Amino acid sequence: MVMKQIHSYLLAKSYDYVMRNTEKRCLQGWRKELLAQASGDLLEIGAGTGVNLPHYPNRVSRITLSEPDLQMRNQLQRKTGQFQNERLDITSWGAESTGMPDASFDTIVSTLVLCSVPSLENSLNEIYRLLRPNGVLLFLEHVISNHPPTRIWQHRLEPLWGLCAGNCRLTRDTATAILATGLQIEQLTEAPMAGTPAFVRGTIRGIARKSLDSGERV
Ligand SMILES: C[S@@+](CC[C@H](N)C(=O)[O-])C[C@H]1O[C@@H](n2cnc3c(N)ncnc32)[C@H](O)[C@@H]1O
Repeated sequence: MVMKQIHSYLLAKSYDYVMRNTEKRCLQGWRKELLAQASGDLLEIGAGTGVNLPHYPNRVSRITLSEPDLQMRNQLQRKTGQFQNERLDITSWGAESTGMPDASFDTIVSTLVLCSVPSLENSLNEIYRLLRPNGVLLFLEHVISNHPPTRIWQHRLEPLWGLCAGNCRLTRDTATAILATGLQIEQLTEAPMAGTPAFVRGTIRGIARKSLDSGERV
């Protein structure tokens, strides 16, 4: 328990520093382009240290940042000081279960989170439930490689990597899981994440929409 807390503290404290090179080389640009498409009532799951905050456009009317990890949440609270206003909330919800009513949000954001949630399926079901009809999931995730030798290494390294990197999984096929939820992917870009080892390099980013007549799942 104590070891877990120390690990979580170190991860939260070092996150921005460890990611700085990759942020500069690609992530900042990807975040900016993706999050420009956010609007209305927005939920960000696994908000981490709050790196997405500067990218939200003014047409986002309300921002709810959820972050279950206490140490990450402390970093988030520190960072949001500069953005603090009445349209911003911070919560400790996990992505699998928020307790919010159905159809609460127009936009849900997940960047580098669906690799870490304990249940991808439950998290995506909750996202689907929380989205309003015509609402969007904006996602940016690292995923299983298309390259068979890299896949083999991803499977081999996953248990150790998970221990070091906050339960992060290397072998998730997140695009397929998003489609299985009933969301329609209307933009999808695959790109290598610069400055990272091959086993976490493959990413997808894009927009998945809940259909307007989404009373029933497709
Ligand atoms: C790699 S960090 C990504 C942080 C940030 N979203 C970003 O883009 O840099 C993964 C985040 O997911 C959070 N996380 C882990 N399990 C989660 C869960 N079940 N629900 C929501 N977030 C979770 C972690 O606490 C961590 O802040």
